[in-house]
Amino acid sequence: MAKISFKTLKNKAQKDINLAKDLKELDEIFRKYLGEKGELRQILHSLEDLPQIKRKETGKLANQIKKEIEETLKKKKSNIQNLISNIQKQEWVDITIPGKKPVLGHLHPLTQVKREIEEIFQSMGFSVVEGPDVENEWYNFDALNIPKDHPARDMWDTLWLKDKGAKLLLRAHTSPVQIHYMEKNQPPLRIIVPGSVFRHEATDARHEFQLYQIEGLMVDKEISVAHLKAILTEFFKRFFGKNTAFRLDPDFFPFTEPSFNVSVTCVICGGKGCNLCKKTGWLEMAGAGMVHPNVLKNSGLNPKEWRGWAFGFGLERLAMMKYKIDDIRLFRSGDLRFLNQF
Ligand code: FA5
Repeated sequence: MAKISFKTLKNKAQKDINLAKDLKELDEIFRKYLGEKGELRQILHSLEDLPQIKRKETGKLANQIKKEIEETLKKKKSNIQNLISNIQKQEWVDITIPGKKPVLGHLHPLTQVKREIEEIFQSMGFSVVEGPDVENEWYNFDALNIPKDHPARDMWDTLWLKDKGAKLLLRAHTSPVQIHYMEKNQPPLRIIVPGSVFRHEATDARHEFQLYQIEGLMVDKEISVAHLKAILTEFFKRFFGKNTAFRLDPDFFPFTEPSFNVSVTCVICGGKGCNLCKKTGWLEMAGAGMVHPNVLKNSGLNPKEWRGWAFGFGLERLAMMKYKIDDIRLFRSGDLRFLNQF
């Protein structure tokens, strides 16, 4: 009976050892069969009553089984250890090798410039407001004092959408947002309006058919061109980081009276004259002027009570002068050699 038990025990132990997956399981198997309270011990205890001669024989057999189980355990242990050390060799990580820098994108230069401009105006008490890219004729033209038969419509002839009812178009400038805002808000007002505008025009180094503008509007009781000039002076100083020469030349916009265009010294030629500035030494950044009384009226405000000024900057032109970029088309070229410089 002892022989059968020993044999069964050995087979059971060997099966367990074969199935063991790690060193911890092997330890448990050792304790289960060969430990102080292990199964081999228990069988030996149960044989204590056997006659002396039988006991000797059985003891010998027990020792042999023990050795065999130990041997199998040892082999399996060394197999598992080899396996572990192979895995460790394969998965070895040299923590002294410098890491690979992940390639990070960054904001487009126009977005960077837009945010910078917003911050400057916000610090001067202006709110940042947005308007729709698709407008109807009233907001893009009529409300801005540009009636249907007015030749100024040609200046902003733009991209019309195919529609059945109201005539819709991609806005040609951000000025329509002046009307939207004044309809809903009572003065005193100070806003800037960044946004895309769309024009039906051929491109060159200074012109794009899609561009960003930053509209500015201030409406209050005693507003004059002096306030406009003061804000422009402060803005240019902070945006270009130094006192920047700019000039206001008389211009015409149906929605402002008087009207100006705002130019800064061309940084590409240092004011000497180049192709970009058409040899004038100056590059136009914005249109501006005192808000026309009809525009206030069309927005529901009394022009006898309120006055205001407005401007419309070209964002790309500002970025060009800040970073000495001589061709506006680079911004939307998608050329990483250009974009990665920012
Ligand atoms: C206007 O769009 C007026 N709405 C500006 C304005 C607002 C005047 C409020 C008075 C009061 P203009 O078409 O000139 O004006 O454009 C204004 C500025 O946008 C220009 O000075 C220029 O900096 C920029 N700009 C205009 N057209 C282009 C273009 N095709 N490509 C790049 N920049 C342009």
